[in-house]
Amino acid sequence: MPFTITLQPNNESFTVMEGETILAAALRSGRNFPYGCRNGACGSCKGKLISGKIQYGEIPLTGITEKEREAGFALFCQSRPVSDLVIEAREVIGAGDLVIRKLPCRVTKIENLSHDVMRLFLKLPATEHLQFLAGQYIDILLHNDKRRSFSLANAPHDDEFLELHIRHYDGGLFSEFAFHKMHEKTLLRIEGPLGTFFFREESDRPIIMVAGGTGFAPIKSIIEHILANNLERTIHFYWGARGRQDLYLHGLAERWANENVAIHYIPVLSGPHKEDQWQGRTGFVHEAVLNDFPDLSGYEVYTCGPPPMVRAVQNTFAERGLAQDYIYSDSFEFAPPG
Ligand code: FES
Repeated sequence: MPFTITLQPNNESFTVMEGETILAAALRSGRNFPYGCRNGACGSCKGKLISGKIQYGEIPLTGITEKEREAGFALFCQSRPVSDLVIEAREVIGAGDLVIRKLPCRVTKIENLSHDVMRLFLKLPATEHLQFLAGQYIDILLHNDKRRSFSLANAPHDDEFLELHIRHYDGGLFSEFAFHKMHEKTLLRIEGPLGTFFFREESDRPIIMVAGGTGFAPIKSIIEHILANNLERTIHFYWGARGRQDLYLHGLAERWANENVAIHYIPVLSGPHKEDQWQGRTGFVHEAVLNDFPDLSGYEVYTCGPPPMVRAVQNTFAERGLAQDYIYSDSFEFAPPG
């Protein structure tokens, strides 16, 4: 039977279904409880049980000491309630609340999304999970202390695989490897989560998102996070690319907009080919926003992609009244070839 968990000190509550752990129910209910391994080992999910009864499964709990258990602490990733509970738990509200970790992972699937963009799905070891905020990135660790950064395209709740969108660059150290040598089962090492470009849940401002190319990846993570948690935010998503084939998940973005009245999708092509037969918007993507919004003072902006686009957004949107505190950006600075 379901049980009610009441959080202290604010008395908010959520429901745990039969067989569910407190952590799983909290994440399903849109609460950002901290966690690491989800396996009883790291202690990241520890919180205080104020009243009620829980039970643990069979696995050894190395993430909590006997003394802590006696003092009323519990590992929420392994605790299943057997009564209604009152608990105290920390919630993750900023990137600083998360642990940055180095982890091995395996490529499980490679998909070509366009002539020069591929999608990788990475799997962590069975006992590991990576907690991150929608919009953050990871580094892939290479030889000789080199690393390459890629935004996570999956939403935090959907963490069975880590999804990355990789663009091919001639001579690019990692992209040449990814496009020509990588195969399913290739082992990689990653570090993350990283970056301060993440979705701010506490705001209720309407959002303008401006992405260029694979800047689509963190936007996908943020929008899927908003949809999964039924957050009521109006989103105007502008995606800039050169030709139609560069809008590599155009159908997905159209589906978000068709199925959600609060989401507006505006693709903008800077150099459509004749054969694209493009009837939509053209020009620079930031100029399309400026044409549509004479006053940006009430909005919040997320922008990510090529540095010239991000700079143009930062400079021109400020002139339209957008306060610096409400612009979040991730500029994809490209490392020099190999
Ligand atoms: S998440 Fe690691 S012990 Fe619970």
